[in-house]
Amino acid sequence: MAVKDAVLEALNKNRDQYISGEELSGQLGVSRAAVCKAVKSLRNEGYEIDAVTNRGYMMPSEGTAVSEDAVRNALPADLRSMNLFVYDVIDSTNLEARRLILDENTNAPAVVIARQQTAGRGRLGRGFYSPRDGLYLSIVIRPGFDISRSSMVTVAAAAATSEAIDALCGCSTDIKWVNDIYLEGKKVCGILTEATTDFETGQIDSLIIGIGINTSEKSFPPELAGIAGSISEEGLDGHAKSLLAASITEKVLRYTKDLSGFMDSYRSRSIVIGRKITVYTGTYRKDPTQELGGRKARAIGIDDAGGLIVEYEDGTRQTLTSGEVSVRL
Ligand code: BTN
Repeated sequence: MAVKDAVLEALNKNRDQYISGEELSGQLGVSRAAVCKAVKSLRNEGYEIDAVTNRGYMMPSEGTAVSEDAVRNALPADLRSMNLFVYDVIDSTNLEARRLILDENTNAPAVVIARQQTAGRGRLGRGFYSPRDGLYLSIVIRPGFDISRSSMVTVAAAAATSEAIDALCGCSTDIKWVNDIYLEGKKVCGILTEATTDFETGQIDSLIIGIGINTSEKSFPPELAGIAGSISEEGLDGHAKSLLAASITEKVLRYTKDLSGFMDSYRSRSIVIGRKITVYTGTYRKDPTQELGGRKARAIGIDDAGGLIVEYEDGTRQTLTSGEVSVRL
């Protein structure tokens, strides 16, 4: 067994207790320098390990809370010192991101993470149910691309989040155009992208990509029962949530840098292509269970700008760049 794995196993077995470097090196038959190196590399992978002079190393019991240190440690080296804010409870990470940019002059890229939201914001003026121990994050970017391509950001974020969830949970999530993520027919994640504009020029100067993931919730309010689900049966511990937050952040920043590298992944995860759908544009449903007219169509494909190509029952085709579709799952 590699030294790193052996150190992890020893610390894991003795959670909340300090083990000296000397004891670990004796137990594992390796030098103290090797133990020290293994601890460093475990921390780089996002493990929370306490080191106290004369006491040794300690891994705290697994909580369910995402932690700033663990997220930072799991980010690639070039992002480790980025602006990162972790809150226990907040009204909305998108609102907090907006306050940080506009009132505190915080620079992008920045990430705001919360364990619970009291006023989570959803698309089309809806709320977003955000109970304790979900993962709610907002990633702020300053677009380096033409602003007319901003709608692609949401597509990039959906691909990034779906990939990160699959890698962490070993599952296979789907994307319902434009940015809802589903697992086994239930919505497990929603994405809301908002913009801030420069007061003087009236131009968009930053984009706030808000991502909300149900990581463990099993009981949902009546209007979401049967529609919403969670990415994990038994719930994710704090370490796993921190790894997920870091992975989503890294991918979103990479994909949105020049808006490339994600369309194939997005299309392959699409739950709508080739399916019969109902298209809602203009008249939005406040509550997703509400059936409000809509127009029957078939989803033909997704173009390179993330638009959904649909064919209506009368044979006419349209490329949707906004709106909402429903699909019978
Ligand atoms: C939707 O499905 O309607 C989009 C939901 C987006 C929710 C996320 S949670 C993190 C961020 N903060 C918010 O208030 N909303 C987004």
